[in-house]
Amino acid sequence: MAVEFHTVPVTVKPLTVDAVGITLDLPHELREEFRHRPGQHLVLRAMIDGEDVRRSYSICTSANDDSISVGIKRIPDGVFSTYATQQLASGDTIDVMTPIGEFGHSPDPVTHASYVALAAGSGITPVLSILTTTLEVEPASRCTLIYGNRTSSSIMFLEEIEALKNRFPDRFQVVHILSREPHEIPLFEGRIDAAKIQALASSLIDANSVAAWFLCGPLDMVETAQHTLADLGVPSHRVHAELFFDERIETIPEPDATAEGMVTLELTIDGRTSVVDVDPEGPAILDYARSVRSEVPFACKGGMCATCKAKVIEGNVRLEKNYALTAEEVDAGFVLTCQAHPVDGDVTITYDVHGGVGR
Ligand code: FES
Repeated sequence: MAVEFHTVPVTVKPLTVDAVGITLDLPHELREEFRHRPGQHLVLRAMIDGEDVRRSYSICTSANDDSISVGIKRIPDGVFSTYATQQLASGDTIDVMTPIGEFGHSPDPVTHASYVALAAGSGITPVLSILTTTLEVEPASRCTLIYGNRTSSSIMFLEEIEALKNRFPDRFQVVHILSREPHEIPLFEGRIDAAKIQALASSLIDANSVAAWFLCGPLDMVETAQHTLADLGVPSHRVHAELFFDERIETIPEPDATAEGMVTLELTIDGRTSVVDVDPEGPAILDYARSVRSEVPFACKGGMCATCKAKVIEGNVRLEKNYALTAEEVDAGFVLTCQAHPVDGDVTITYDVHGGVGR
């Protein structure tokens, strides 16, 4: 199914020296379409130096707010994040898709539970939305945020986190852990690694009474936290993880129709089928699909957002990376076309079948 972008004006607010908050100034008629579940993300699109560049960013605002915002931190050599933090200004417009993604939490007013979020850097964005919405909707629940950054000046949304503490002083606690600033209490300095999580679990948090853990940050932090929580006896269904969208994605070559050993890719989107020759050793299926059908959906091109998901109808493919599809989705034949290459001959896929949505 093709994705639809809406062009909307934005308000841009500096958060740190290298991060901005971007609020969509949504027209009234789009507000319902942009209602989100805390933890979901937006795909933003901009033409940068003549290129169609798209990235996914998690929504940081409460699901109860009328406004909807994302936080973007500049990544070295990151095309979109550099544009967003250095060129985009209040009053400019940006193209944006309606919220997507399965990561997060659906708060329930009758629930009485304890939640812990572990975030690093811009991993705070979905976590801030989840915690704010949960504290607002579940009056008997408690939330703890463990937030890792390099220095106090690099903490994104510090004002918003402090405001949340002031709104819910008895039900929300924050633990800042800074890797490049000494602290008189060693627990609060360094990186969020296995030893730190174990130390927190033996002092500030009763790991087994936590109803849900939300992990958001770079791959190594998320994997370390998953393993450490498993070692502490936390069941995996209580641990929910989201990865950063890394902008430093390898450059993908243009499809080369003259290469040896080409196979045929047949793809259907919006009920219409197209055919293109594909080099199994060349770029991913997505790049070939886009060369004949410009409406093919994609965002991160890093195997993380599932925007490019399609179902294999015939043939076999291999995936380079998959951080987005569940085992059930893979078993059902779904693939991330930005990571997919044909194996053993021709392949037929469709973007028109849904079932499970990936993270
Ligand atoms: S475009 Fe994000 S997983 Fe393929």
